[in-house]
Amino acid sequence: MAFEKVGVVGLGTMGAGIAEVFARAGIRVIGVEADAEALARGRGHLERSTGRALDKGRLTAEEREAILGRVTLTTAREDLADADLVIEAIPEVLEYKVALFTDLDRICKPETVLATNTSSLPVTAIAAATGRPKRVIGMHFFNPAPVMRLVEVVGTILTEDGLLEDVSHLAWQLGKTPVVVGDLAGFVVNRLLLPYLNHAAVLLEHGVARRDDIDAAMRKGVGLPMGPFALLDLIGLDTAYEIMGVLFGETRSTRHAPAPLLRELVGAGLLGRKTGRGFYDQDGPAPAEAWKAHVTGVTVHGEGAEELVARLDAAGFRASDTPDLVLRLGERPVIEHAVRHADPSRVVGIHLVGQDVAEVVSTVLTSPETAGAAAGLMTVLGLTVVPCKDRAGFVADALLFAHLNDAVRMHASGYASIDAIDTAMRLGCGYPAGPFEMLERIGLRKVRDGLRALYAEYREPSFAPAPLLDQLVAAGLPAFPRA
Ligand SMILES: NC(=O)c1ccc[n+]([C@@H]2O[C@H](COP(=O)([O-])OP(=O)(O)OC[C@H]3O[C@@H](n4cnc5c(N)ncnc54)[C@H](O)[C@@H]3O)[C@@H](O)[C@H]2O)c1
Repeated sequence: MAFEKVGVVGLGTMGAGIAEVFARAGIRVIGVEADAEALARGRGHLERSTGRALDKGRLTAEEREAILGRVTLTTAREDLADADLVIEAIPEVLEYKVALFTDLDRICKPETVLATNTSSLPVTAIAAATGRPKRVIGMHFFNPAPVMRLVEVVGTILTEDGLLEDVSHLAWQLGKTPVVVGDLAGFVVNRLLLPYLNHAAVLLEHGVARRDDIDAAMRKGVGLPMGPFALLDLIGLDTAYEIMGVLFGETRSTRHAPAPLLRELVGAGLLGRKTGRGFYDQDGPAPAEAWKAHVTGVTVHGEGAEELVARLDAAGFRASDTPDLVLRLGERPVIEHAVRHADPSRVVGIHLVGQDVAEVVSTVLTSPETAGAAAGLMTVLGLTVVPCKDRAGFVADALLFAHLNDAVRMHASGYASIDAIDTAMRLGCGYPAGPFEMLERIGLRKVRDGLRALYAEYREPSFAPAPLLDQLVAAGLPAFPRA
């Protein structure tokens, strides 16, 4: 079907961006706001956003004029009567959305497709509240809508045949990449992303590592575009807390229980960038810690020891039989190795993450001087230091492997294909690779073994390796079968 005239209800952060996306693609848009004041704000969003594009040379003055000329702004919902598609982007409150859809159902012609941009509310419930449940779907854009390429196209068990294909075709026409999914709270991106971010808050709360170090591990070590706390501040802690609540309400899984620390920050009004303070004070990064390496002799044990010794040697640190610092690579628990040493206070675990990050692991017996010296040594090697406790997976693997396991479980449940999940996470979160691509790059066995260790330590059921992952490892397969 052709979508020649599109309505957008609610011209806030998302709605204004969505209106711009359609107008840029040459489609006529009717933007509806609640009152004149909000309408003026919506017009402001559109003018600023296209103005920025003009300043950056991404639009000519004529193109900008044409885009703005395609958007009609109004406070009268009745103006949507002959729209082919109406997308709702009003606040995330089910009662508001149901009331709006009931009204749109009355106003719009019977063929009009009604879509919600909800992040976490049930599309099925919104559809069922109308007299046209077959033609009510989700169209989940990402912020900022003109820039982010992903659109999750959400169908329900009530959706009529062919509609999701038509809407996907429209998304391509808008220059977006559609991923068609079913109506499960959080869809693909939020259902995978938010529990991982929440998990980071749990590790912080348990004192496994500090805020900046956890962010550094995931950004510099794993290669994600932002650390979890910087991203939580961007999303808004209130939004994150609400989505976790919705996920928990649906699954009752402890994996989805909102971190108490999130609740406390939200209660204190520290919501992230929008209030100027969240996990971070928004007035600039904290100064990095200056480590000093006071080391006269060092020994290195464990997998990869030779390589590290060579690097230390090149930096002027000699291996010694009477070391004041003992580095234990890779293996854990570090404490089991430490207690076998004559002086456990001198033993530190080192876990290298990617090319640039060293997790420096203190046990309960490691002296602060030793931990500081080990951190200094890693800095001399040009590595970013992530001090952390002796816990399964330390920081990066604990967060990443659990996140990847969630993706495997999601796929195994039949909710989304491997390609859909990889595409959604790459385009929706800016990941350098999708979860399945990451799994295959790291090695299925390594992730499976890491998950077993996490489960053995935390007894968290969702850390147990997904049966599909276990089976692939048992079968000796290096990759997931694609359909
Ligand atoms: N902000 C994000 O990052 C993001 C990303 C994806 C999806 N979403 C979803 O998009 C929706 C909107 O979020 P937002 O961040 O743009 O909110 P927002 O608060 O910035 O904008 C909501 C707008 O809706 C208007 N509005 C409220 N009631 C209305 C009504 N009855 N009729 C017309 N307009 C009305 C408000 O005046 C406001 O301008 C929510 O469902 C949210 O979950 C948000």
